[in-house]
Amino acid sequence: MTESQGRITIIGGGYVGLVSGACFAEFGIEVRVVETDQAKLSALKEGRIPIYEPGLDRLVAENMAAGRLTFGDDLEAAVANTEAVFLAVGTPTRRGDGHADLSYVFAAVERIAPALKDYTVIVTKSTVPVGTGRRIREIVRSMRPDLEFDVASNPEFLREGSAIGDFMRPDRVVIGCESERAREVMRRLYRPLFLIEAPILFTDLQTAELTKYAANAFLAMKVTFINEMADLCEKVGADVHDVARGVGLDGRIGRKFLHPGPGFGGSCFPKDTLALMRIAQDAGAPSRLVETVVAVNDARKAGMAARVVAACGGSVRGKVIGVLGLTFKPETDDMRDAPSVPILGRLAEDGAELRVFDPAGMEQARPLLPGGITYCTDAMDAAAGADALLVITEWNEFRALAPGRLAAAMRGRLVVDLRNAFDPAAFQTAGFEYHGIGRKPK
Ligand SMILES: NC(=O)c1ccc[n+]([C@@H]2O[C@H](COP(=O)([O-])OP(=O)(O)OC[C@H]3O[C@@H](n4cnc5c(N)ncnc54)[C@H](O)[C@@H]3O)[C@@H](O)[C@H]2O)c1
Repeated sequence: MTESQGRITIIGGGYVGLVSGACFAEFGIEVRVVETDQAKLSALKEGRIPIYEPGLDRLVAENMAAGRLTFGDDLEAAVANTEAVFLAVGTPTRRGDGHADLSYVFAAVERIAPALKDYTVIVTKSTVPVGTGRRIREIVRSMRPDLEFDVASNPEFLREGSAIGDFMRPDRVVIGCESERAREVMRRLYRPLFLIEAPILFTDLQTAELTKYAANAFLAMKVTFINEMADLCEKVGADVHDVARGVGLDGRIGRKFLHPGPGFGGSCFPKDTLALMRIAQDAGAPSRLVETVVAVNDARKAGMAARVVAACGGSVRGKVIGVLGLTFKPETDDMRDAPSVPILGRLAEDGAELRVFDPAGMEQARPLLPGGITYCTDAMDAAAGADALLVITEWNEFRALAPGRLAAAMRGRLVVDLRNAFDPAAFQTAGFEYHGIGRKPK
């Protein structure tokens, strides 16, 4: 694709802004990404990708070289002649009350409004509470009564770790618009996805905004459900792996997100379930289900360390624990709300000697973890001399570790696998005591 298919501006060069910017550029659109964090911006300008996301470095490099993808911090200039401005700034949890913090969104809108020249669609790609689109419209209208513009909601469903594939071949695209003119712009920008017949749902603003929260809350609920079933399996002597398979093969339920673990973390589920809980309470239609999911998950993450201590015989004082995986899930360096933080915090407090390894997240993890931890060069290094091996994130490379080699490197023969990443039988054969989540000893 050489001829420009349009021009857009993306505010925020984080996970969502950078991935969607690179993918829109790949569609042939001229994309300007505005990023205010100077360290991130200079990395991006030099073609260095500040996050770990498979395939993103190549996509960014190719589109920068083709002149379709540029980075800068001059927001006013970047939004002046553009068809659509996508807001992809963060919407973290507001301190104290669980609501989404919209200060980055509104700060950006207040800078965009005076700089717009012609008709522009202002699109929220950030996850924002229901009603935010309407508030943006009021702000822009009050600042620029002369301007023709529309507001659209286009929530992003990409998953870190497979973000490019998710953007290029999505299960669906949801677009909330209030005018045919805005729909036309959005249809054109997503033309390559119409061509591959990806389902594109046009809705109103509020519906699109709520759809994003509802999707994340449902997935978080599925994870929480299987976590509870795993605990029940341990009590009644069932195996959660088989239960999940037996349940998930039902087409109405589906097999995904039925993997038990230490509780969900990451940049989206914790903050989005909390925000949906507040949105529903404020609207006078509280969601007891979502409230329970939040409470159950918080308790699970807080209680995970106790499970490790129990597996270690009731005390970890003076014990060497080799830790595999720190990030909230594999194939990302994201440490936001990762279960490893409370788990390792508590184990360190209880006197464990921690030797940790993560293939991508060590740098991000360091400021969040207690001092005195040994950061290792690889999984075998983390296992060296350990009394116990603790799996917190199921990176593929850990699955390939041979129990015999681990046994030779370790001092003890204990595995606590919080992701059911290993084959229990193989470890038991090698003489290990294996503790999974809801797995039945065979
Ligand atoms: N990370 C995900 O997997 C994911 C998936 C779907 C949706 N989302 C949603 O997308 C939004 C962004 O998430 P993220 O993970 O990309 O966040 P992020 O923190 O990685 O990125 C946000 C970026 O915006 C920049 N920024 C803030 N204000 C700015 C301004 N005025 N001008 C220019 N840049 C500015 C920040 O410096 C930061 O780099 C959130 O609402 C999130 O909930 C995230």
